[in-house]
Amino acid sequence: MKNKLIFGTMMKHEKTTSAILKALEVGYRNFDLAQIYGNQKLIGEAFNQWFKTNKREEIFIQSKVWTKDIDKNDTVNAVNKILEEVNIDYLDSILLHRPSLNLENDLQAWKELIKLKEKGIVKQIGVSNYEKDQIIYLWKSTGVKPEINQIEFSPINQRYDRITFATENDIEVQGYTIVAQVFNDHNVIDIAKKQNTSIVGICKSFALEMQISPIISSSNSDHITSNFNDPIVKLNEQDLNYLKSINIYKNKFSEMYPIALLDEYYQK
Ligand SMILES: NC(=O)c1ccc[n+]([C@@H]2O[C@H](COP(=O)([O-])OP(=O)(O)OC[C@H]3O[C@@H](n4cnc5c(N)ncnc54)[C@H](OP(=O)(O)O)[C@@H]3O)[C@@H](O)[C@H]2O)c1
Repeated sequence: MKNKLIFGTMMKHEKTTSAILKALEVGYRNFDLAQIYGNQKLIGEAFNQWFKTNKREEIFIQSKVWTKDIDKNDTVNAVNKILEEVNIDYLDSILLHRPSLNLENDLQAWKELIKLKEKGIVKQIGVSNYEKDQIIYLWKSTGVKPEINQIEFSPINQRYDRITFATENDIEVQGYTIVAQVFNDHNVIDIAKKQNTSIVGICKSFALEMQISPIISSSNSDHITSNFNDPIVKLNEQDLNYLKSINIYKNKFSEMYPIALLDEYYQK
């Protein structure tokens, strides 16, 4: 499986369009969106500007159905709304953003995604923040395996249970918040110095070494450029073992976050 570097789009609305245009300019071709980030129209504006001289097929556009829509059994409408907001006629990938507290609701939503894929409206279907057993339930109940699980991942948050299950079953793992928590981590700073790259370079390299597609977000033009260009380095066994040893399972986004609070967070 080929892992890819993905540009994350959870950012302030006023900075979104210029950030996407900058990301396209420096070379990002994979984009992670979500309905709940509230900025898909702005992202669409940037894409449509870019499509004037470039082809739609050259970029991978992924979005996510929010849990409230899963619970309201409104997955198809949610996907149609995403297409309308971004102003595109298909999605390269769609994920269920966070598991519902009711797994039967997830199953209904999963069945809708399967139908959307059969119709060609979405090319890949997957989940985000799902546990192994939740994935198995969707898979065994329908015979259709989620192709992606997007999870929080960084040197201080390595969920081996999820990663091993996914890689053993040919499910792509996408890692989010790969850098935000480790900018001041002296362990990661040391290894970046030793390898002659940046913190971001180490986090990208580590994710890729673990067969994880790294997602990085920034709305700062210089960071967007350096994050794309900072070298991916070959980590030797000693470096890898060291990075694995600093895991403390520290989430930025709590797995147990009540959905109401999460809504409030994203609306800020
Ligand atoms: N599935 C989910 O539940 C979920 C949850 C969270 C995130 N995500 C996805 O993952 C993406 C990334 O997540 P994230 O934003 O939490 O984490 P991140 O990409 O690890 O960190 C982004 C933060 O780091 C800063 N930053 C980036 N590059 C920098 C650099 N070179 N130097 C200094 N600061 C830098 C950014 O500020 P500046 O803008 O100033 O550069 C921003 O504050 C999101 O945009 C979203 O697409 C998914």
